[in-house]
Amino acid sequence: MSKTPVRVAVTGAAGQIGYALLFRIASGEMLGKDQPVILQLLEIPDEKAQKALKGVMMELDDCAFPLLAGMQAHADPMTAFKDADYALLVGSRPRGPGMERAELLSINGAIFTAQGKALNAVASRNVKVLVVGNPANTNAYIAMKSAPDLPAKNFTAMLRLDHNRAASQIAAKTGKPVSAIEKLAVWGNHSPTMYADYRYATIDGASVKDMINDQAWNKDVFLPTVGKRGAAIIEARGLSSAASAANAAIDHMRDWALGTNGKWVTMGIPSNGEYGIPKEIMFGFPVTCENGEYKIVEGLEIDAFSQECINKTLAELQGEQDGVKHLL
Ligand code: NAD
Ligand code: LMR
Repeated sequence: MSKTPVRVAVTGAAGQIGYALLFRIASGEMLGKDQPVILQLLEIPDEKAQKALKGVMMELDDCAFPLLAGMQAHADPMTAFKDADYALLVGSRPRGPGMERAELLSINGAIFTAQGKALNAVASRNVKVLVVGNPANTNAYIAMKSAPDLPAKNFTAMLRLDHNRAASQIAAKTGKPVSAIEKLAVWGNHSPTMYADYRYATIDGASVKDMINDQAWNKDVFLPTVGKRGAAIIEARGLSSAASAANAAIDHMRDWALGTNGKWVTMGIPSNGEYGIPKEIMFGFPVTCENGEYKIVEGLEIDAFSQECINKTLAELQGEQDGVKHLL
């Protein structure tokens, strides 16, 4: 018997990430090859954006995806999020060369107040929300605080791109396949302060830390490469990452919905006080997922260097969250 379609809302649907994302959702890569989806696509009311969205929908039609059970274009979050089971909040301004993501807060922050309120009013009470728009952690925090009737745990921020970038750098360094890497974690903010931590990582059961055995590489090459990868892509492409960002969004939602089979992944989630991170801070943590719920990997020892890195990214996030009080 075929499954009942689920409603997937995507904002910024005519943007570059949207273009790399929608076709994969409609083909079943996010929620499974047996799960029909209805796409509820939001763009700004601007005529050009709505026209571009119509074009993307024409292409979706032309793919004749068997799992695409319906789609609508919207210009208002109150209709776009109606009964949504999943919401991918992508729509917002990307940074250009020389900018930091936090600088986008004054431009993008208000989007997430309005969208958080709309989710609160009309989305499914179980909606799973992923914020991709930058600065992702603080925008997710704004959306969560603007939706007091929804469980806070339903709001998440995307750190999966940092996780995937870290895995790819480790694969290149060790000469091992990326698929063999387990137990990697990225702590904190989706910003250059994030702390990609391979102290517990293994490849075929062997310790990655022992394999690499080079703290200078960790500090001087690995962390800056992963932390500044977004800027390096903007510099090279003239545009911010899109296909890899869409891929990370698919990975994040798929793992959350369908489970990780015990494998660790990184999600930005509201803290409940774990690892000394104050409650409600939207922080990257290692998690496992099962039955549609994520669970923080607890009990990891935090050494002095890791604590210093975690304190730094936490302080940055607290600064960002202090700066958006007026929006809440
Ligand atoms: P883009 O400019 O190509 O597309 C953004 C789209 O969002 C545009 O079509 C725009 O009209 C739309 N939009 C703007 N405000 C909106 C609103 N209020 N409601 C609905 N739609 C709205 O940008 P992009 O490259 O797709 O990037 C989108 C965002 O994702 C940026 O903020 C970027 O920095 C961020 N990003 C995050 C990560 C991550 O890892 N978290 C990775 C890559 C990009
Ligand atoms: C990325 O990490 O590629 C995105 O967050 C885009 C950016 O501004 O860096």
